Amino acid sequence: MNLVEKIKEKARKNKRTIILAEGTEERTVTAAGIIAEEGLADLILLGEEEQVKVVAAKVGTDLAKVRVINPVKSEKFAVYAEELYQLRKHKGLTLTDAEKLLESPLYFGSMMIYKGDAQGMVAGAQNATSDVLRPALQIIKTAPGISSVSGAFLMISPKKEYGEEGVMVFADCAVNPNPTAEQLAEIAIASAQTARALIGFEPKVAMLSFSTKGSAQHELIDKVVEATKLAREKAPDLLIDGELQADAALVPKVGASKAPGSVVAGQANVLVFPDLQTGNIAYKLAQRLGDVDAFGPVLQGMAKPVNDLSRGCSVEDIVNTVAITACQELS
Ligand code: ACO
Repeated sequence: MNLVEKIKEKARKNKRTIILAEGTEERTVTAAGIIAEEGLADLILLGEEEQVKVVAAKVGTDLAKVRVINPVKSEKFAVYAEELYQLRKHKGLTLTDAEKLLESPLYFGSMMIYKGDAQGMVAGAQNATSDVLRPALQIIKTAPGISSVSGAFLMISPKKEYGEEGVMVFADCAVNPNPTAEQLAEIAIASAQTARALIGFEPKVAMLSFSTKGSAQHELIDKVVEATKLAREKAPDLLIDGELQADAALVPKVGASKAPGSVVAGQANVLVFPDLQTGNIAYKLAQRLGDVDAFGPVLQGMAKPVNDLSRGCSVEDIVNTVAITACQELS
């Protein structure tokens, strides 16, 4: 069974209630039919019922097993508005502002998850990353002990000699433009949890840099060294090493020569990048030039899972992202 099938199998067992917030978007509605048919989650589509029906008829999807909720007509609207007002009034939000925000399915979906009426949400086929993330960060917030949400990709390389039979986790490729050492340490720990939860392998985390074990000196390297130390203090059992260059992290011969004795060098399966420029560029280059399949971003560190799609996503991407969301940890 390949990794995607394994994740789908786990999703079927978990039977989570997952929201697709862009309920009148054609690829989303098509995906909803497939997800319901494959039993990957109990689905809720957010949108005006008649419009959802029109789209379903157009794309030929049977939504008999899918719940459709129109946020503004929901009987929970007033309760959610009051709760959102209470949550955000210290930020200057009024009840009227809260009602206005809740007309957005992204805010309404985040409130559903916050109140335990659903366990995860997927959106982004129509909305920008920041618009998907903001309500989730404001309402659902981070898991206990975590201050920074980050975005990981599951990378499946045709080159089986790398990572775990070609499977690796890359992070942060989506959220934090310039993480501090503390944030980088959290990203490392969260990425290891993602590897365990979704792929089931023992994570070996490489903290990447342009230097291996002191081969160069620069304040950018100091941040990675500090982050490695902090991650070790927070998660003493975690197999983690840094600073490592990418070849020292992945290639056994290079790892043995540049970082002898390392428990990670040459066999890393979780790669943590020093900032968003490197992480985002690296995953896209691996995907385009290296024929590596990239699944994500999987948002990690949220109290409940919310995942963002690319606006260029396919129906299959939406199906897979819902399956991943249904497998992530809940706190
Ligand atoms: N983790 C946890 N909480 C966060 C984080 C984070 N990484 N970033 C922001 N927050 C919280 C803030 O503390 C704030 O909470 P509060 O309102 O309760 O005080 C709330 O989220 C909103 O924060 P702002 O700083 O006001 O929101 P901002 O508009 O800066 O948005 C965002 C934050 C969306 C994460 C922003 O940093 C961003 O756009 N990041 C880059 C996203 C991106 O473009 N990625 C690349 C494309 S994705 C791809 O290629 C796959």
